[in-house]
Amino acid sequence: MEKRRIITAGFQNEDIEFEPKLRPEALESYIGQENVKSNMRVFIEAAKQRKEALDHVLLYGPPGLGKTTLSNIIANEMGVNIKTTSGPAIERPGDMAAILNSLSEGDILFIDEIHRLNRMIEEILYPAMEDFVIDIVIGKGPGAKSVRLDLPHFTLIGATTRIGLLTAPLRDRFGVIHRLELYSMEELTTILLRSADVLQIDIEKQGAEEIARRSRGTPRIANRLLKRVRDFAQVTYDSHITQEVAKLALNRLDVDKMGLDFIDRKMLLTMIEKFDGRPVGVDTIAVSIGEAAETIEDVYEPYLLQLGYIQRTPRGRVVTERGYAHFGIPYPKKEGEA
Ligand code: ADE
Repeated sequence: MEKRRIITAGFQNEDIEFEPKLRPEALESYIGQENVKSNMRVFIEAAKQRKEALDHVLLYGPPGLGKTTLSNIIANEMGVNIKTTSGPAIERPGDMAAILNSLSEGDILFIDEIHRLNRMIEEILYPAMEDFVIDIVIGKGPGAKSVRLDLPHFTLIGATTRIGLLTAPLRDRFGVIHRLELYSMEELTTILLRSADVLQIDIEKQGAEEIARRSRGTPRIANRLLKRVRDFAQVTYDSHITQEVAKLALNRLDVDKMGLDFIDRKMLLTMIEKFDGRPVGVDTIAVSIGEAAETIEDVYEPYLLQLGYIQRTPRGRVVTERGYAHFGIPYPKKEGEA
């Protein structure tokens, strides 16, 4: 059998270079996301039994949770090639047509940041996803002709941090839609111990737990912090990561005891001090702290919501009692409360 290829079309996001060994290659070694995994196992098995391409899959959720990793695993489990590209990399309809035309039967096309595809390109995808055809226009002016080309039955896997920005016609063409959730501390600890094993890093379980607690529920952050803690352990200690070494290193990296960084703290303190704990809109928060509203919604809010430090209300975001407690600031009594 021909060796399977991993092909990268155009621009790729930063983490493709991320030590490939750290990424699990089989569903069995992918930790967490149990619901997604058990469903995907069924869909993969069923498609294989019928000798059909897997239905199109949409993965969404905050960055760094393993959407790309999972897509590569799906390709491995299906035993098919995967071609990888991203929404902003495909600028012209011709690029999309060329990529689709280069696929073989059963192949996976992975489009990261699929919400950033432009409309014209999306419209090529509709018939491609639904009927496995593309319409291309040959020639110009009155003599131009539209030709319909058949495509092999392929699987589109789309990944996005912002499902709300996907147009309904595109979203509706995915047969499988899964949301990836932030990881628990136990799951992150297991991931860290596995990564330490792969990278031959000497770490105690309590050291891994300390890093896990401060990784915002995100494996990409956990793996990054592990490498930085290793640097401290190597230069300042005897390369052995205990809980104490992890704490000292993470404090030096300005990651606090719950994993909040400078921007999280600035956001919470702005909401507490500048807005006196009243509900604030995300755009107002964004302007006040000099970050894009989109970054706040995608990157910062999910973790602060998971911690229960902020709440979304119809009138805006508010810091909770727990959020105040993080800074040792007394929680103001709200109107109507005793
Ligand atoms: N590395 C990054 N994400 C992972 C996961 N979910 N399971 C195992 N290793 C990982």
